[in-house]
Amino acid sequence: MNIVLNIAVVGIIYVGSVQIQEGDVAPGTVMAAITYLSQILNGMMMLAMIFSTLSRGMASSRRLQAVIDTESEIRQEASLSAEGDGSRGSVRFENVSFVYTDNGTEVLHGINLSVAPGETLAVIGATGCGKSSLVSLIPRFYDAAEGRVLVDGVDVRAYDPAALREKVTVCLQKSELFSTTIRDNIALGRPSASEAEIRSAAAAAQADGFILQQPEGYDTPVAERGMSLSGGQRQRIAIARALLKRGEILIFDDSTSALDLKTEAALYEALNRDYADVTKIIIAQRIASVRSADRIVVLDGGTIAACGTHDQLMRTSPVYRDIYDSQLREEATA
Ligand SMILES: Nc1ncnc2c1ncn2[C@@H]1O[C@H](COP(=O)(O)OP(=O)(O)OP(=O)(O)O)[C@@H](O)[C@H]1O
Ligand SMILES: [Mg+2]
Repeated sequence: MNIVLNIAVVGIIYVGSVQIQEGDVAPGTVMAAITYLSQILNGMMMLAMIFSTLSRGMASSRRLQAVIDTESEIRQEASLSAEGDGSRGSVRFENVSFVYTDNGTEVLHGINLSVAPGETLAVIGATGCGKSSLVSLIPRFYDAAEGRVLVDGVDVRAYDPAALREKVTVCLQKSELFSTTIRDNIALGRPSASEAEIRSAAAAAQADGFILQQPEGYDTPVAERGMSLSGGQRQRIAIARALLKRGEILIFDDSTSALDLKTEAALYEALNRDYADVTKIIIAQRIASVRSADRIVVLDGGTIAACGTHDQLMRTSPVYRDIYDSQLREEATA
């Protein structure tokens, strides 16, 4: 379109100059012709741009629609008994193995584990050992290849997925923030929550302080993907969102990795005080984060290497002692 426009201008100047020399037209007429022509061609250029934006939009909407229309493979299995054991917030893994079907490698093997209602269970282990995979079986993001996972005594496959995910709250390893206000980002946890509930969730997540320091407090807009906030601030907003939901089971997948130890300790103290009846499963890399948990599970190569309190593990588990020593060394060199 630009080439057409410029060639047309050159053409008019050429034809116009010949005609001016012959005395047929005035120079002003040629100038007017150039102006009119550019205006018309500019209009056509805009039209062409609208068409290209439109076709791009249509391609994107087709793609989005295909994603939205995808049927989930996770469905309620009516044949299984939905008879629970009456507990509220218990989790049990029975001989669970797990394989990612796309590459076929076995990530978890022979997992047996019970978590009591209200208990704080920490999961620790090397990167890539299967911690995130283990907890993703509880809200049934994936199905176990063998064995079964029970929530409140009911096989997770017997639940309506929506009902199961009402009970289980996961604060993902990488949480998304959206480009709306801080308040709305937290309220996503439970859209019907009152202002007071939002504030108390933010206070427990140790986010209240920095939110109030923002220029517009809770009404401060967050940039796309939370880019206007620090890593730790983003994590605390995601934690506040998870706490607001008030599920029976709360899973933190490395959700406090960007917090300093003091803030993290204050968060866990608030959790133990205000969310005592909620079952908490906490994945962490640092031993300092999990020392105070009721029980610590050490995951090694997809199996449970040891399980117990910090002191028990220090005595009995070489894998745990290894992690402890390496972190102590890191601290010393730092
Ligand atoms: N969606 C996936 N598809 C296929 N393989 C996966 C997928 N997610 C993880 N894996 C593989 O499963 C193994 C365990 O991954 P997982 O995410 O559970 O580790 P992790 O213990 O949470 O690690 P980190 O501490 O780094 O978060 C890894 O070897 C990884 O390559
Ligand atoms: Mg992980």
